[in-house]
Amino acid sequence: MVDHHGSQCGFCTPGFVVSMATAHVNARTDHDDVLVSNLCRCTGYAPIIRAAEAAASAPIPAWMETDRQALQAPGAIAALVSAGEPSGGRGRPAPGPPRTS
Ligand code: FES
Repeated sequence: MVDHHGSQCGFCTPGFVVSMATAHVNARTDHDDVLVSNLCRCTGYAPIIRAAEAAASAPIPAWMETDRQALQAPGAIAALVSAGEPSGGRGRPAPGPPRTS
């Protein structure tokens, strides 16, 4: 993203990078479709698409391939969901004890 001037304020950059990484590890090169739900107010999309095209030709890091294979195992996603997290997977902290002050 930086090399292709695809980031200005950086607010959107994490979402774009995660979408690009997910597309890359799944061998998707339909960048317009993969990135359609990410919005950028600053840059415009041509530099971002150029960054996605460049990322698509980079080797997939071994740890990403390991994670991808682990998640494709039967029941892997269900196991993660059932293992749960205190927030119920919604990204919010679990409610704590009521405040006394
Ligand atoms: S770089 Fe600012 S919103 Fe995308």
